[in-house]
Formats: sequence, structure tokens, C-alpha cells
Amino acid sequence: MKVSFYDGKMELKAGRLYGVFADADEKKLIADYPDEIKDLYEGVRSQYDPKPQKAFFTALKTADGAAYIKFYCVSDMNDAETWREAAGKLVREAYSLKLTSAETMLPDDESVRESFVRGLTEGSALAAYMFDEYKTDKKAEFSELSFYGGSDEKLCAIADEACAVCEEVNFTRSLVDEIGDVLTPEVLAEKVAERAKAYGVESEIWDETRIQKEGMGALWGVGKGSKNPPRFVILRYNGDPSSDKRLALVGKGVTYDTGGYCLKPGSGMMDMKDDMGGAAAVFGALFAAAKRKLRVNLVAVSGVCENSIDNGGFKPGDILKSLKGTTIEVINTDAEGRITLSDSVYYAASREHVTHIIDAATLTGSAISTFGSYYTAAVTSDQSFFDEFKKAAEVSGEHFWQLPCDKRYRKLLESKVADIKNLAGREGGCIVAGMFIKDFTEGLPWIHLDLCGAYYDKPVDSYVTDLATGQPVRTLYEMAKLMQA
Ligand code: BES
Ligand code: ZN
Ligand code: ZN
Repeated sequence: MKVSFYDGKMELKAGRLYGVFADADEKKLIADYPDEIKDLYEGVRSQYDPKPQKAFFTALKTADGAAYIKFYCVSDMNDAETWREAAGKLVREAYSLKLTSAETMLPDDESVRESFVRGLTEGSALAAYMFDEYKTDKKAEFSELSFYGGSDEKLCAIADEACAVCEEVNFTRSLVDEIGDVLTPEVLAEKVAERAKAYGVESEIWDETRIQKEGMGALWGVGKGSKNPPRFVILRYNGDPSSDKRLALVGKGVTYDTGGYCLKPGSGMMDMKDDMGGAAAVFGALFAAAKRKLRVNLVAVSGVCENSIDNGGFKPGDILKSLKGTTIEVINTDAEGRITLSDSVYYAASREHVTHIIDAATLTGSAISTFGSYYTAAVTSDQSFFDEFKKAAEVSGEHFWQLPCDKRYRKLLESKVADIKNLAGREGGCIVAGMFIKDFTEGLPWIHLDLCGAYYDKPVDSYVTDLATGQPVRTLYEMAKLMQA
């Protein structure tokens, strides 16, 4: 998306869409809009009682036709989230008018201009996203946002960063939305390697032979039942060679989760092409950091595989030997995510010299039952690391909620025949899954994110209404930013 800044006032022209914002508390417009808009606002005030988040759409006659006006009323002008939501409304209006651009004016109050530009740019870039790969009639994409009333360097830089990061969020979303039959482990690895090359990011891909040779018996156990063999993907971005600090981002990359022999019912399988949302998010976040040249060292890894059925597939009762050497008793083949993550997390902890780990995974239905689509569940082994992460989330506007990390939950995973079992029944589902992964983090500060609720298809925010949301790419990017020296 292109963002432009202009010094003068915006000029009303036929066929264009204008974002006009009013302050709900002051009950007045927030910028020095053209007189026609001011008059219009006064005229509609009797019908339009400015209340937060209330929108109003109208057309204004100009010399050669109608200009379109989208009013939107806000209360917290310092919160970028306010403006992301406003942008969602504006871009949706543009789509219904078949327009690909919109214009607005910077607020008079200079202290809110940064949140305004950041929020409107991010919200527009995210709301512009569509997945029409398989539609015969394609819509033109919303691609241009113009700000009038000033053009300082700082605001341009904010818009540039927002566009760059949201482009990676949308890349992540496009991977999540791609169908499982097309986005096999091999194709996902190829797409990621191709982008890495374009951004000068180092990538390494292991095929199924290497995965077995290295001893990733957990990843191989889950992936071996599919004709689309697994891949292990490693991306490295060394933005600060002088620092020993290095953050590992580990994603669950199940390109399709049938449940395996513990087959899911048809209704539960529908969204399972998205079970690589964690992998797509960690790759997207690393790309965003690399593109913005953050002074931080990152490695993103994922054991990418398909949980399918075949007479060679893993079965309940099997015991898999992980890269760490830990043996895993398979109680349920549908709890496959934690199994694949055990190898990826241990690989990062033991072979990549990392100092911190964050894993992101569409791991449990329990996270959906608990949080719906509004929060991502988090389990952490290090409070101060998680406190930093929460600061990152405050900037991104994405929501996380911490669950206990208590060894009594780990006890439930004791196996009679192996070192650990992959399931302990339904109780504490999301926490117990986290405790399973913790065993492979080698005591490093670690945060586990169970993305199940927030990553897909929920009208959480007006700027990401359906399909993949791209969470938590923006928070991971902000976290990388906070970790800079
Ligand atoms: N990929 C699923 C979790 C999931 C559920 C993601 C719904 C997105 C939407 C995971 O592999 C899974 O199947 N989890 C099961 C485990 C169960 C068998 C203990 C679950 O949580 O229901
Ligand atoms: Zn599963
Ligand atoms: Zn799964």
C-alpha cells in the first residue's frame, strides 16, 4: 500500500472517498477539513449524535459529481487501535464503492498525529488484505492512502514502517489462507526460502532424509504418514553481530491436520489447513525485522509436516524418540502439534545459541473454549521476559493472557512406558500442552503462545474481519524491536 503526505487541505473531488473524524467527547471535527465538510457536519449533527465508533456515510455534491464522505466518531485519540478500527471502516467503504484509495486530514492536535498515522496506515493495510486466489471475479485491491495537512519526516517514517510490517502480516495471512492441498510442507518451505532470498535472510531447509538422519523422530513420527513429506525450515537474521542475545521464534507448521488415526470429525477438520499459522507468523515476523533492519539476532524455525492417514502413519500407543532423546508415548495422534514442536524447540535451544524462545502454535481447542477469538493464551517460564512481551503487545494492540506454568500440570504427562506422554485427558488442556513443550526449552526464558482463538476467521476487529488475522506477527516484531541493544 502506498501512503502519501501533502501540505495543503484536501480538496473534494467527484468519485473519491474521504475519511472525516469527529471527537465523541468534544463533539467536534478533529481537523481543519474543507468548508463543505464542516457545513455538512453541522447540517447532519441533529441526526448524527457523535458517539464513539459510530459511523455515518454520505455523498457530497461537487461540480462534476459526488464525493463520498465516511464520518467516524472516536473517543481515545491517543490509541492507535482507535485509528486501526477507523481505517477498517474506511477501507470497507472503499471496497463497497469499488474504490482503491482514500484521503483524510491530519488532526489539529499535533500530539495525536503519530497514533493517527500509525493506526490508520496499519488498519488500512490490514483491511485491504483479501484472498481471492480461487475467485473468478477479482476485486481491485485497496492500495493508496493520502494524508493532507502536513508532511513531516517522522510521520513518513511511521507510515513506512507500518506498511513494511503489515506487508509481512499479509504474507503470513496469505500462507494461512492457502489451501492444504497446494501448501504442502515442500511448497511452504519453498515459498519461505524464496522470500528469504529476496530479503537477504539466510535459510536452510532439511528434507525428510536429513530430518531422520538428524534424529528428529518426533517430527518424522507425525509427518511420515503423508505422501507429502516433512521439511524442517530454519531462517537466520543476524542484525546485531556484536550481541550475544538471540531470540528463537518457533512455529507449529502442520500444513493439514486430519487428526491422524484419531481422526477429527468432518466439522472439526474444516479449518485444519490453517494449522501452520504459528509457522507462518514466526516467518512473517522475522521477515519484517529483516526488512526493517532491526539490530537484533533472530532465528525462526518450524518442523513443517502434514498430519495424515496412511498405513505407515503413527498410531496411538507408538513411542517416538525425539531429537533431545526424550521418548514420547503417543496417546492421541490429534495432539500432534506439541510432538512436532518438541523437536523444533529443542533444536533451537540446543543448536542455535539462542538466549530466549517464543513458540507460536495453533495448539488446542482448549484455548478457543477459554478465550474465544479475543485473546491468545500464553504460558511462560520467565516473568520478566513475559512482562517485556506484554509491552510489545500494548504497542501492537494484540491481546494475550497468561496462564499458570506449574509443575503439577507437568505431572499429568507422566507415562508408564516412556519419558512423557502427549496427552493427559481434557483437563487444563492448553496449560498441559504448554508444560509438554517446556520440557524441550532447556531452561531458557520461554513464552508459549497458543494461537487457536485469535489467528483465524473471527470478527475480532473491524480491520481484520474474516479469514486469517495474521496474529501475532505485529507483536513478535515489536518484541524484536524491544530486544534491540
Ligand atoms: N490443530 C489442533 C488444534 C486446533 C483446534 C486448531 C481448533 C484450530 C482450531 C490440534 O492439533 C488438536 O487437534 N488439538 C486437539 C487435541 C485433543 C485431541 C486433545 C484439541 O485441542 O482438541
Ligand atoms: Zn491435531
Ligand atoms: Zn494440529
